[in-house]
Amino acid sequence: MLKRINELKQEIETATASSVDEVDALRIRYISKKGSVNQLFAEFKNVPNEEKKAVGKALNDLKNFALEKINSLRDSFESKGTDATGTDLTRPGEPLKLGTRHPLSLVKNEIISIFGRLGFTVAEGPEIEDDWHVFSALNFPPEHPARDMQDTFFIEKDPDVLLRTHTSSVQIRVMERTQPPIRAIFPGRVFRNEAISARSHCIFHQVEGLYVDENVSFADLKQTLLYFAKELFGEDTQIRLRPSYFPFTEPSAEMDVSCSICGGKGCNVCKYTGWLEILGCGMVDPNVLESCNIDSQKYTGFAFGMGIERIAMLRYGIKDIRHFFENDIRFLKQFESAI
Ligand code: PHE
Repeated sequence: MLKRINELKQEIETATASSVDEVDALRIRYISKKGSVNQLFAEFKNVPNEEKKAVGKALNDLKNFALEKINSLRDSFESKGTDATGTDLTRPGEPLKLGTRHPLSLVKNEIISIFGRLGFTVAEGPEIEDDWHVFSALNFPPEHPARDMQDTFFIEKDPDVLLRTHTSSVQIRVMERTQPPIRAIFPGRVFRNEAISARSHCIFHQVEGLYVDENVSFADLKQTLLYFAKELFGEDTQIRLRPSYFPFTEPSAEMDVSCSICGGKGCNVCKYTGWLEILGCGMVDPNVLESCNIDSQKYTGFAFGMGIERIAMLRYGIKDIRHFFENDIRFLKQFESAI
């Protein structure tokens, strides 16, 4: 019996394993219930009494030896990732910082989502445009000041190639290729030859909206914009429309929302008026529909356009438009939780 114990001890001593699975196989083979060590224990009752003391001790020693051996084999795998300096290479690396969405993207996506709930789809158009889509088709008379070099960036001095000054050009592109009903919004970047200051930039973003169908009325426009304002600035928000002028809408209006900062009581953001101007709008001028081969006797429509920067500034209390374009990480990371 002692001889067999010794043989098994030697066998266990020389056992090797090249994976955790193999260690487990050794565990099963030697120290599980049906393993070789326990089989010897089972035979202990047949050992003559005078040998029991020595055999019992040898058996217990064997069991402890097997346990230690298997544990040390297992440990060798679990610390395999440690290098010579003791650094555990298997530990997870530094978590990578997630980027954050730009505040302009956040606001743009929110606007898209609000109008999406009203059935508006999204379309885009080119930033480099021609006179027809930015001005002529939109009923700008030839001498209109917005066509001036002072406002518009022309390319290579060719007055027919220019950077769009508003997203209304996309209205034309969509109406040229689609017959009503049309219900879409057009987010995009626009360019104006303006001095850069805290309040204005030569590059900014707009979202345009267009709805053309039979019997579209000014009441539809007003209700759509009221819904939009409440969704964006809160249920208590009120709107007011002031008469205005755009060549491509008639009648035209500018829309104010009640100041969400002071609730309409008056503060420095709304310049103590209680109101904030956020967009221009109106009924699509019949001349514009006709430019796009849409029957203005049969169809009417409304359009609106707003600046994304302006809305983001109001939304987040940002005082200087230049922050949006400087990519200062200290500014951008404040919008982490807004995702
Ligand atoms: N295009 C106008 C602007 O840039 C906004 C506007 C769009 C007004 C649609 C009326 C209708 O200021």
